[in-house]
Amino acid sequence: MSTTMLSTRNALARGLLRGSNNGLQSKKLLLQLVAARCYSNGEKTLKQRFAEIFPEKAEEIKKLKKEHGKTVIGEVLLEQAYGGMRGIKGLVWEGSVLDPEEGIRFRGRTIPDIQKELPKAADGDEPLPEAIFWLLLTGEVPTESQVKALSADLASRSELPQHVEQLLDSLPKNLHPMAQFSIAVTALESESKFAKAYAQGVSKKDYWNYTFEDSLDLLGKLPVIASKIYRNVFKDGKVAAIDGNADYGKNLAHLLGFQNKEFVDLMRLYLTIHSDHEGGNVSAHTTHLVGSALSSPYLSLAAGLNGLAGPLHGRANQEVLEWLFKLREEVKGDYSKETIEKYLWDTLNSGRVVPGYGHAVLRKTDPRYTAQREFALKHFPDYELFKLVSTIYDVAPKVLTKHGKTKNPWPNVDSHSGVLLQYYGLTEASFYTVLFGVSRAFGVLPQLIIDRAVGQPIERPKSFSTEKYIELVNSIKSKGGVQ
Ligand SMILES: CC(C)(COP(=O)(O)OP(=O)(O)OC[C@H]1O[C@@H](n2cnc3c(N)ncnc32)[C@H](O)[C@@H]1OP(=O)(O)O)[C@@H](O)C(=O)NCCC(=O)NCCS
Repeated sequence: MSTTMLSTRNALARGLLRGSNNGLQSKKLLLQLVAARCYSNGEKTLKQRFAEIFPEKAEEIKKLKKEHGKTVIGEVLLEQAYGGMRGIKGLVWEGSVLDPEEGIRFRGRTIPDIQKELPKAADGDEPLPEAIFWLLLTGEVPTESQVKALSADLASRSELPQHVEQLLDSLPKNLHPMAQFSIAVTALESESKFAKAYAQGVSKKDYWNYTFEDSLDLLGKLPVIASKIYRNVFKDGKVAAIDGNADYGKNLAHLLGFQNKEFVDLMRLYLTIHSDHEGGNVSAHTTHLVGSALSSPYLSLAAGLNGLAGPLHGRANQEVLEWLFKLREEVKGDYSKETIEKYLWDTLNSGRVVPGYGHAVLRKTDPRYTAQREFALKHFPDYELFKLVSTIYDVAPKVLTKHGKTKNPWPNVDSHSGVLLQYYGLTEASFYTVLFGVSRAFGVLPQLIIDRAVGQPIERPKSFSTEKYIELVNSIKSKGGVQ
């Protein structure tokens, strides 16, 4: 038996004898014991593996900068400065790269690849989000027992401090779930090991260690926070206990109040495919940017969640459902292509966007949409709302192309996710972005750990006023177009 396991078992025995904190302390110790038992199988833990890998990565980056630091990697047009910086290369993101035609690759792997290669639960067909976290952080596919140990580790970190529970209970039910989510994650700052270590003057080379610990603590607590919000706003406020032997997706489903096995598998798929979409999207970029100021993972993720809450980003999954419901109300059962086409034109002609369609980078159907479509085809091909979404998929790209504005008339991830949740009875659309947020943490926290391990500096791009840009373009013009 390992030393950690022994000390956890002894602490557990002491806790049980004292009956400490109405069993709360004992519950926590029990979860820690399960985690310690999983970690005692001789395989490397995620932290050990990362500690072995990152010095090589840091060396590789140092060499690249030394040899090619002055290589020109792109040009910037004035229209890009005024166009949301689309296409400007200026960020480093190790976990994933997005190809406009093909879609996302997580450490070189497509969604079908990860569905095949990543470990699955014994009772499921979909990859485990714990495994994507491991992959994004290290570039390696973990073994089944490594994932099991990580699941147990995350479960052992799930307890919320009392002030966060009280805070969530005190929030008005009409406060949007994403605002509640961000408030709770911000309030967890009290637990930040990074902030405490920084205040005590820890060396830069140890920053990653505390960032890693905070990130795992935070991931462990997210299912409880999300479920508390869901149960407080829409149900009886009671949240079931975490099971130290269950995987992350199963725990999340059970805490939300859903036992259905297919729903559990959907949660695993959902959390895996929503995790990462390279570094420039609002939630990823914001988390990275705030983290670059050495704000803790709690404050950094909360900032990212505030960005995810916007209707052009994560909240689009809620907007899609609301848009679909209005459609359903208006067309009164007539789901013909002609009726749907008219509804799409009505939306566009009233100056609104069609939610769930378009993308800043993608130029084809989002493979995250396809993965969810395949899940629906497998489990409920005849569900009314799924059929409606499928008909819209037939019609909307043509309408959007004819409309002629969007550069990408194809559906994105948010176009499909809500319908899957509806089928299993998670019908409260205003909660949907919270699930996206739990998943996004699996993608942005690995980069935050890497940023600290390789010593990424504070982010600070250059901005100009319009006057200055006019001066700049005139000066470039007077020199014959050369700067
Ligand atoms: C995702 C999104 C924000 C990307 O924005 P973008 O990179 O600026 O997209 P484009 O370059 O194609 O935009 C060009 C024009 O087409 C419009 N457009 C883009 N997607 C559109 C859509 N789904 N419906 C209607 N118009 C759309 C834009 O609003 C823009 O109009 P403007 O010139 O009047 O400002 C945009 O496609 C959108 O608003 N989609 C709907 C919301 C959504 O699904 N978000 C989730 C994304 S994962």
